[in-house]
Amino acid sequence: MSQKKAAQLRDTLNEHNHYYHVLDDPRIPDSEYDQLMRDLQALETKYPKLITPDSPTQRIGASPVSTFAKVIYNKPMLSLGNAFENQEVLDFDKRAQEHLKVDNIEYSVELKLDGLAMSLRYENGILVKAGTRGDGTSGEEVTHNAKTIKNVPLRLRGKDYPKLLEVRGEVVILTADFEKYNKKCAANGHKMLTNPRSGAAGSLRQLDSRKTAKRPLSFFTYAVGEGQDLPKTHSKILQQLHKWGLPIAPETQVLKGTQALFDYYQDILARRNTLPFDIDGVVYKINAIAQQEILGFVSRAPRWAIAYKFPAQEVSTKLLAIDVQVGRMGALTPVARLAPVTVGGVTITNATLHNQDEINRKDVRVGDTVIVRRAGDVIPEVVRMIPDKRKKRTSAFILPDKCPICGSDVMRVTGEAVTRCTGGLFCPAQRKEALKHFAARRAMDIDGLGDKLIAQLVDKSLVENIADIYQLRAEQWASLERMGKKSSEKLMKALEDSKKTTFARFLYALGIRDVGESTARILSENFSKLDTLMLATNEALQDLPDIGPVAAQSIVAFFQQSHNRDIIQTLQDEGIHWEVATPVTTKPSLAGHTFVLTGTLQEMTRDHAKAQLHALGAKVSGSVSKKTYCVVAGEKAGSKLDKAQKLGIKIIDEAALKVLLDQ
Ligand code: IVH
Repeated sequence: MSQKKAAQLRDTLNEHNHYYHVLDDPRIPDSEYDQLMRDLQALETKYPKLITPDSPTQRIGASPVSTFAKVIYNKPMLSLGNAFENQEVLDFDKRAQEHLKVDNIEYSVELKLDGLAMSLRYENGILVKAGTRGDGTSGEEVTHNAKTIKNVPLRLRGKDYPKLLEVRGEVVILTADFEKYNKKCAANGHKMLTNPRSGAAGSLRQLDSRKTAKRPLSFFTYAVGEGQDLPKTHSKILQQLHKWGLPIAPETQVLKGTQALFDYYQDILARRNTLPFDIDGVVYKINAIAQQEILGFVSRAPRWAIAYKFPAQEVSTKLLAIDVQVGRMGALTPVARLAPVTVGGVTITNATLHNQDEINRKDVRVGDTVIVRRAGDVIPEVVRMIPDKRKKRTSAFILPDKCPICGSDVMRVTGEAVTRCTGGLFCPAQRKEALKHFAARRAMDIDGLGDKLIAQLVDKSLVENIADIYQLRAEQWASLERMGKKSSEKLMKALEDSKKTTFARFLYALGIRDVGESTARILSENFSKLDTLMLATNEALQDLPDIGPVAAQSIVAFFQQSHNRDIIQTLQDEGIHWEVATPVTTKPSLAGHTFVLTGTLQEMTRDHAKAQLHALGAKVSGSVSKKTYCVVAGEKAGSKLDKAQKLGIKIIDEAALKVLLDQ
């Protein structure tokens, strides 16, 4: 019975993992996935014999190993020859044509991912071994780490896979994941990853897979090592691998003729920074397997494939000065001023140094020659300095102890990496940033209110807070530099237009710490009225998806400040409004869910709560079981609360219940 249940849960979880991480098309909410995972964990804890190698519970990492075992490759893991200009590709194609005695070769073309190669060995569809490339014939076994990579299938899908299938691919960190991870590290004072490639490499070669599990790695398959009865072309093989659940990188194509190969190169190069990961070129592979076999390989590189490399994303330059910028929340960010260099086709003169800890760790000083890096939409950053090129008599850089803009004291909370100006809205830098944020396209979208105008407004003391901009008169606007009568009228109209907005945009525009666009959207979806949100408790907020204790605390603290409440009032008096979403009459969210009420409720009677829950389609039961959806715990809750905790059931308090009923 339990065995069947465990198998069912494994199947369901593996299936949803595939939808989420391979197809990027989630079919159930995260909360539901987490619940299924907890159910399986509970079963496996009770009956450890039920744990299988393909159980999704095995993704969290295992105890550290002391050394890496060796993996031997029956078919060596090959590398690629490189081309840096068109002529080298033409030569490659010509050699292959001569050897194959054909005159128009079909190529499968793909991205050259900039990560670390990994082999995955599936026996009877189950992932049994993973290894790095090493010297090509033997590498390090990293099965424990590979299993923590979310889009690596622990079991292949379907039934028609070969008994033995060994595939190769690249482990990378997606640009978005890299940014998110480093932002979190910077905020918490943890060591940041240098770049996605070395981050991926370091994470895969970890002895402690629990550490690897914390790194946001992804895998993309690009070749087969061993495997029988596969399709006859490389492109079809990739399609087949995808059907078996293996992730394949986007942008693969089948092309004929060298001109098409060059067009592909140019097209991808132009879009390089919009791709989800770093690439260092494209790869051309002769598509027909029969032709590949004729050509074979020489010294570790196949004669049927070649990489056409892109210009580097990392270059060295001189660090001329370090300036300090003050952000919207007062954070002091050291910014490197650089001798201009072109990186990946774009000239850069500034790069971020993040914070004091990062400067110390990298030991970067004015006058140093440094490596700078640019990728995706990420602000360029200083990766490291080159020790050999350091001049004598340089000194370490230390952030000032007064705000360089307003002179207020700066402060660094123990345990935090960020140094902040304590001036708040007294600090012109913070005021400007708050206004820029408020007016931004994704916030109040005030057309024409750009950085330069905002700087003038603040420097001339025309505005102190975000609400003041709606109170400026036409002649005040017209008095600003580069503002005539016409442009000031245009701006007044834009201000008027911005007054009709959405609740989510308004919340985002307020600039509450830790409330980005997605949190603002969640708040707007869960609170029908601003008044209710302004009174929400920390617990009620934390009960919402994706809102943790830090954001909850920031939200509560923001609305507790009377000056913030005054600003909101002024904004509303000025006519800022949004349409309230029409309440859904039947609330499917609670339909069929079983609630249990326990302990004493302070503000409502139990009967009242029960009646309201029933009205929303929920069931109310007297006892806690696995089927319980949620337990409402009042004062002095006892054994039912304990049981709910043991079963991992969602527990909310009276305040959170009120929020839920209020929706
Ligand atoms: S094929 C049979 N395809 O580049 C040839 N390699 O510089 C084996 N790489 O070791 C490699 N993207 O780690 C191939 N689409 C791609 C690739 C790719 C990245 C890496 C791989 C290889 C290295 C060679």
